[in-house]
Amino acid sequence: MTKHPIIVDIENRKTVKHYDPTRRVSQDKMEIIYETLRLTASSINAQPWKFIVIESEIAKQRLANTFARKNFHNKQHIFDGSHVILFAHNPRYSLEDYATVVDTDISNGRGKPEDRERYLSKFSFAESKTDSSGSNAHWTKAQVYIALGNALHVLARLNVDGTPMEGVDPELINQEFAPELDGFECELALVVGYHHPDGANAKLPKSRLPREAVLHIL
Ligand SMILES: Cc1cc2nc3c(=O)[nH]c(=O)nc-3n(C[C@H](O)[C@H](O)[C@H](O)COP(=O)(O)O)c2cc1C
Repeated sequence: MTKHPIIVDIENRKTVKHYDPTRRVSQDKMEIIYETLRLTASSINAQPWKFIVIESEIAKQRLANTFARKNFHNKQHIFDGSHVILFAHNPRYSLEDYATVVDTDISNGRGKPEDRERYLSKFSFAESKTDSSGSNAHWTKAQVYIALGNALHVLARLNVDGTPMEGVDPELINQEFAPELDGFECELALVVGYHHPDGANAKLPKSRLPREAVLHIL
C-alpha cells in the first residue's frame, strides 16, 4: 500500500543538528510559514502569542549572546540556520487582550456588534486558567506549542528543515529582547534552514514508540 503523502512528509522531517550555512530559505516559503503561525488555532481563539523572527546578522548576534550560560550545542544553529523564530506567550492574558480578538472577529464579519458583550463573556474560560497572582502563562504557553506543531508540519511540506528548541535561556532571551517582547515571554524557538549534507541526524531512521504503546482506540 502506498503511504499517504501526509505520512511521508511527517516521516521525512527530522530535527536538524547540523545546518548548511550556505543555504537560505526563500522569502516565498518564509511567508507561508508566517501565515501558518498566524492562522494557528488557539483556545477561545485567544492568540496569546507573538512570533519574533531573527533574520538579520545583528539579530542573530543578539540571540547568540543569550547562549552564554547553557545549551551551547544549540548556539551554532543560529548562525548556520537561515532564520530563527522565537515563540513568545503572554503570561498575563487579560480581558483587554481578549477584547481585541472579539473586535477583530466583529470587523471580519465573524460576529455581530450587538453580541459583543456575550462574546466577551467567553473570557471566563481564560479566568478559569488564571491563578491568584494574575498569571495564566501555563495556559498561554500551551497555545504556542500548537503553533510549533503546525509549523513543523508545514516545514515538512515545504521541504524545509528545522530544529524546535526548548534548549534556550528564557531569562537571557527575555532580557535581550525585552523591547520587542514587551512583557511577553519566550521559552521556545524554531530554527529553520537546510541540513548539512554531512549531518548525521538526517541519515538516521525515524524512531518512535510503537503504535500500541501510545494509541488506545476504545
Ligand atoms: C518542544 C521541543 C523542544 C525541543 N528542543 C530541542 C533542543 O533544544 N535542541 C535540539 O537539538 N532538539 C530539540 N528538540 C528535538 C527533539 O529532540 C526531536 O524532535 C526528537 O528527538 C524527535 O526527533 P525528530 O524531530 O528528528 O523526529 C525539541 C523538540 C521539541 C518538539
